[in-house]
Amino acid sequence: MSSALANLRIWIDDRFPMTKMWDDHMAKYYAPKNFNFWYYFGSLALLVLVNQIITGILLTMNYKPGAATAFASVEYIMREVPNGYIIRYLHAVGASAFFIVVYLHMFRGLMYGSYKKPRELIWILGMLIYVCLMAEAFLGYLLPWGNMSLWGGKVIINLFSAIPWIGDDISQWIRGDFSISDTTLNRFFAFHVIAVPLILMVLVVMHILALHEVGSNNPDGVEIKKKKGADGIPLDGIPFHPYYTVKDIFGVGVFMTIFLAVVFFIPDFFGLFIEHDNNVPASHLATPEHIKPLWYFTPFYAILRAVDWKLGGVMVMAASIIVLFFVPWLDRNPIKSIRYRSTLFKINLMTFALVFIVLGYLGMQKPTPVFKMATQVLTIAYFGFFVILFLTSLKEKTKPVPDRVTK
Ligand code: HEM
Repeated sequence: MSSALANLRIWIDDRFPMTKMWDDHMAKYYAPKNFNFWYYFGSLALLVLVNQIITGILLTMNYKPGAATAFASVEYIMREVPNGYIIRYLHAVGASAFFIVVYLHMFRGLMYGSYKKPRELIWILGMLIYVCLMAEAFLGYLLPWGNMSLWGGKVIINLFSAIPWIGDDISQWIRGDFSISDTTLNRFFAFHVIAVPLILMVLVVMHILALHEVGSNNPDGVEIKKKKGADGIPLDGIPFHPYYTVKDIFGVGVFMTIFLAVVFFIPDFFGLFIEHDNNVPASHLATPEHIKPLWYFTPFYAILRAVDWKLGGVMVMAASIIVLFFVPWLDRNPIKSIRYRSTLFKINLMTFALVFIVLGYLGMQKPTPVFKMATQVLTIAYFGFFVILFLTSLKEKTKPVPDRVTK
């Protein structure tokens, strides 16, 4: 049997670079030996992507796009389809899990300077993935055709009408109708189940190929390829397989424990992962008392609402995402890891994380004058992070970086 398998492998290898690909990306991909907790989230993002695709395919088997059928088909999945409610919760909670994992993954990049030369393109591809992920989540949210799906969709699509002269035409073009309708739902379905996931998967493959081209960064920010042994293997590198496959499987175990506990016991996560207002069918005549997006968009929603002038709000919100693309060039200091950077850099990054979380909280609240004022201050603080990052990085008191990785 084993020789038959070996022969099959040789047969395939003569026709397709199977073993070569396995070696290049797993068994002979040398990753720094000091990966820590923060390095779990890339493989976890892959896991959640696979979860979304599989549960999405299963949902599609019973979901019926269409203004007259969508809501009832989701109810059917929840009540009649065997284990349908588990599949739907795996998908809906999976969406929030995706953003939690990706936000932690991005924060790791900021801490360890993983966006710096030669990894700028990994960061750019990551940002494109992030924008696609936002589009994917927004499109998917319309599909259950609940009342928040409809009204959330109205708010976001209406943002385009703020564009001078052509804005109204663009909104109408996106909707395919004068207001959100059956037509809009059908096209959102097409984009959600095939167009955007395809782009997302291509981008993820490019992201990992770009990473494997230059090699992984690590918590010390030391380039392991600079110190190689006589065999040409980095002295501080270990083969990804089996060392990091095993480590990542441990991460998967911990993640699944938490993820499934939420899926089984608190799938709506107190209205954060599935909004209660969305259990009511869509109605153009019943505006929800408080329209807000799901938690992962609320930091940006808060920024949007901080500016009274609609076009201004849209531009500031767009800028708050676009500026992240430029981080590799805003941070001028070649030292990568937070471990060897100045106290000011550390305070700035931690404040940024806090500002992002508080903006997320404010974005969920009704815009009272006090909250609005707080949102405006924090919007300035959000952009302040990038200014301070640029200025500190020009002239910074850093610690000496070791030659080899530490721990
Ligand atoms: C579907 C979403 C994503 C997937 C599946 C994904 C996957 C991965 C994987 C498997 C790795 C290698 C393992 C690791 O370093 O943790 C990685 C590294 C990296 N990712 Fe992502 N990623 C995603 C989104 C993003 C986003 C949104 C960004 C930032 C904007 C980003 C930036 C990076 C960077 C800079 C690295 C290199 C890290 C280092 O070597 O220190 N990724 N990604």
